[in-house]
Amino acid sequence: MDMRFPEGFLWGGAVAANQCEGAYDEDGKGLSIQDVLPHGLKGPVTDAPTPDNMKLVGIDFYHRYKEDIKLFSQMGFKVFRTSIAWSRIFPNGDEEIPNEKGLQFYDDLFDECLKYGMEPLITISHYETPLQLARNYNGWADRSMIGFYEKYVRTLFSRYGGKVKYWLTFNEINSVLHSPFMSGGICIPKDELSEQELYQAVHHELVASALAAKLAHEMMPQAKVGCMILSMPVYPLTPAPDDVIATLKIEHQNDFFGDVHVRGRYPGYMLRYFKEKGITIQMKPEDEEILQNTVDFISFSYYMSVCGSADPNQKAGLGNIIGGVPNPYLHASEWGWQIDPKGLRYVLNRFYDRYQKPLFIVENGLGAVDELVDDGNGSFTVWDDYRIQYLRDHLIQVREAIEDGIPVMGYTAWGCIDLVSASSAELKKRYGFIYVDRKDDGSGTLNRYNKKSFGWYRDVIQTNGKSL
Ligand code: BG6
Repeated sequence: MDMRFPEGFLWGGAVAANQCEGAYDEDGKGLSIQDVLPHGLKGPVTDAPTPDNMKLVGIDFYHRYKEDIKLFSQMGFKVFRTSIAWSRIFPNGDEEIPNEKGLQFYDDLFDECLKYGMEPLITISHYETPLQLARNYNGWADRSMIGFYEKYVRTLFSRYGGKVKYWLTFNEINSVLHSPFMSGGICIPKDELSEQELYQAVHHELVASALAAKLAHEMMPQAKVGCMILSMPVYPLTPAPDDVIATLKIEHQNDFFGDVHVRGRYPGYMLRYFKEKGITIQMKPEDEEILQNTVDFISFSYYMSVCGSADPNQKAGLGNIIGGVPNPYLHASEWGWQIDPKGLRYVLNRFYDRYQKPLFIVENGLGAVDELVDDGNGSFTVWDDYRIQYLRDHLIQVREAIEDGIPVMGYTAWGCIDLVSASSAELKKRYGFIYVDRKDDGSGTLNRYNKKSFGWYRDVIQTNGKSL
């Protein structure tokens, strides 16, 4: 098979502001929930930023972005996905006037991308709710978040409409069901949060997301807006019909989000779920109409698949925010995430069968421990053949899906430069083509070094996939 990808395929890489920028209190930035989450999903939430929080400095992208964008351009990136730190623009989240210095930073960053012909792909909210919105309003549990988000979004669209064509409304919007604080700024501890409260918060996010699509289409006719979903295919552990139905129900918990974004209304299986659980979503009269503002494309992260089982004795294994029963046929990464390249072809087919919308893979990659060694030419490198293997295996499956007739817009490898992990807040879990000299004790020069995968990815992009 000719491994070349379609003309104009958007090759690139992805990061998120809170995991790379650092400069957590510079130029008027307010605190975000990440600044008080030094150990990621494991918690605890601290009262104030603590020195053990790796994200406060990150990889210092805030000051070094020019050097980093240049390196991305050397790999030939056509697109660069990052997020805007909400609390750089509205430090507390509920101010009247945005912070000009924050706005200027992203102007400069986007100009730098455009200088190299790289399209910015921007996540409006990536796990970085302003801390004051979490503390004072309980995050997305409160309906007033819709208004704060709307104001933020209007500010971004009117400022960057001429520079940014691709927008994502919420990172992994379905993750709020599993990680209400990190994903939704909801301060009530997860085990005390009722499903009523949780699904009400989901409703607020869905309305806000549809509102963003509406505003984008009105304010920037050239723009394309996507939802962003944490995709994790669930295979029945056995062919037993009970396992198949259990699997369907788990899938529905994720499908729900795409269904609303693409079809503009709540699906029947969710209405049934709400009824059976005694959940009543409080809606304003305008909500139904707002939800009809659907997205132009579907973007998603893909790292792993899991199994579904009706057997309560089957224990969930580790995973990317959402876990699941491990698959006996798959091996796992050092962090216990089961590696399944074919699952990416499966998920692309599944999304397209369901929605017939263009798809964008905006996260995929391998988190691994890397060793920086002498490259024999007076510098240092990482011989990360394991990462090349992982990415190659997945990209081959993307090519298969394209052959299946699926319109895939692009692929942005996660953590194209090493950054602080979201789930465990550590730097030793590295994804990058570029190594950053910083360790979890805070030591290191912050110098950048190209890994072996840097040259490999450059060749893949240059040959539009042929060198795979
Ligand atoms: C996704 C997030 O869940 O997975 C990213 O959108 C995150 O923010 C990525 O970094 C990888 O997860 P982790 O925990 O290895 O950083």
